[in-house]
Amino acid sequence: MSMKMRALRIMFMVMLATLYGLSGVGDLARAGAEDSKPQIERAAKVNTFNRLLKPPSERNLPPAEDGIHDPTSEGTYLLQSPREAFASLPKSNSGNRVDWVKALDEKHIEPRFDRFDPEKKPVVFDLNIVREVKGSMPNVVYPHKQHTEWLDCSNCHPAIFIPQKGANQISMASILMGEMCGVCHGKVAFPVSECRKCHSQNKTAEAKK
Ligand code: HEC
Ligand code: HEC
Ligand code: HEC
Repeated sequence: MSMKMRALRIMFMVMLATLYGLSGVGDLARAGAEDSKPQIERAAKVNTFNRLLKPPSERNLPPAEDGIHDPTSEGTYLLQSPREAFASLPKSNSGNRVDWVKALDEKHIEPRFDRFDPEKKPVVFDLNIVREVKGSMPNVVYPHKQHTEWLDCSNCHPAIFIPQKGANQISMASILMGEMCGVCHGKVAFPVSECRKCHSQNKTAEAKK
C-alpha cells in the first residue's frame, strides 16, 4: 500500500472511532498503523478486538488516555475521570467493572432517556424471551425489561432482530463477530465472558440430553 493510501485509511478509521466513540475501531486503526510490526508483537494483544476485556492497568483510563477522546482538545481535560465517577457505583466482574443494571435499579444514576426532553420516560417492556440451547449450556433468557430501560425498541427492531420469537438465527459465533447480541455486548454492555448473565436458565436433567 502506498504511504498516502495508508495515511488515508488510518485517518478514515480514526474518524469512525471518534464518530462512534468506540476504541475498538481505534484499535483497528492502531493495528493498521502496526501493519509493519512483527507478527508476534501484534499477536500478543489478542484481546484488543474486545475493549471490555482489558488488563486492570488499562481499564477506565482518564479521558485523555482512553483512545476515544481527543488528547489535544482542552475540553477533554474538563471531563471527570471514570475511575472517580464509577467509584460509588455497584461493582461487576467485567467490562468497565460497573453493574449498570443494578446502578439504574438502585437509582445510583438517573440518566435522561431523551437528550432534549428531560421529562421523557422510557417505555419499559417486561417480556422475557427464552432461547433454548442445545447441549449442556443453560438456556438463554433475553429480558426486554432491562434493555428497554435504556434503549428504544427501534435500537433493535427491525435492524438487529425481527420482533418475533425464534425468527432470528443467533449463535455464539455471530455474537463474537459483533453481530446480534454482540452489536452491544462486548462494546457498550457487559462482555461475552459473562456466560451466566445470558445463559441463566438451568435445564432439567431430561433436556440436557
Ligand atoms: C436490545 C434489543 C431489543 C430491544 C431494545 C427490544 N427488543 Fe424486542 N426482541 C428482541 C429479541 C432478541 C427478541 C427475540 C427474537 C427471537 O427470538 O428471534 C425480541 C422479540 C420481540 C417480540 C416478539 C415476541 C414474541 O413472543 O414473538 C416483540 C413483539 C418485541 N420484541 C417487541 C419489542 C418492543 C415493543 C420493544 C420496545 C418497547 C422492544 N421489543 C425492544 C430484542 C429487543
Ligand atoms: C450476551 C449474551 C450471551 C453471552 C454473554 C454468552 N452467550 Fe452463549 N449464546 C447466546 C445466545 C443468544 C445464543 C443462541 C441461542 C439460540 O440457539 O437461540 C447462545 C448460544 C450458545 C451456545 C450454543 C451453540 C452456539 O454456538 O450457538 C453455546 C455452547 C454457548 N452459547 C456458550 C457460551 C459460553 C461458554 C459463554 C461464555 C464464555 C457464552 N455462551 C456467553 C448469548 C450469550
Ligand atoms: C442495542 C444494544 C444491545 C443488544 C443488541 C443486546 N443487549 Fe443486552 N444489554 C444492553 C445494555 C445497554 C444492557 C445494560 C447494561 C449492562 O448490563 O451492561 C444490557 C443488559 C443485558 C442483560 C441484563 C443483565 C442483568 O444484569 O440483569 C442481559 C441478560 C442481556 N443484556 C442479554 C442480551 C442478549 C441475550 C442479547 C441478544 C439476544 C442482547 N442482550 C442484546 C444492550 C444490548
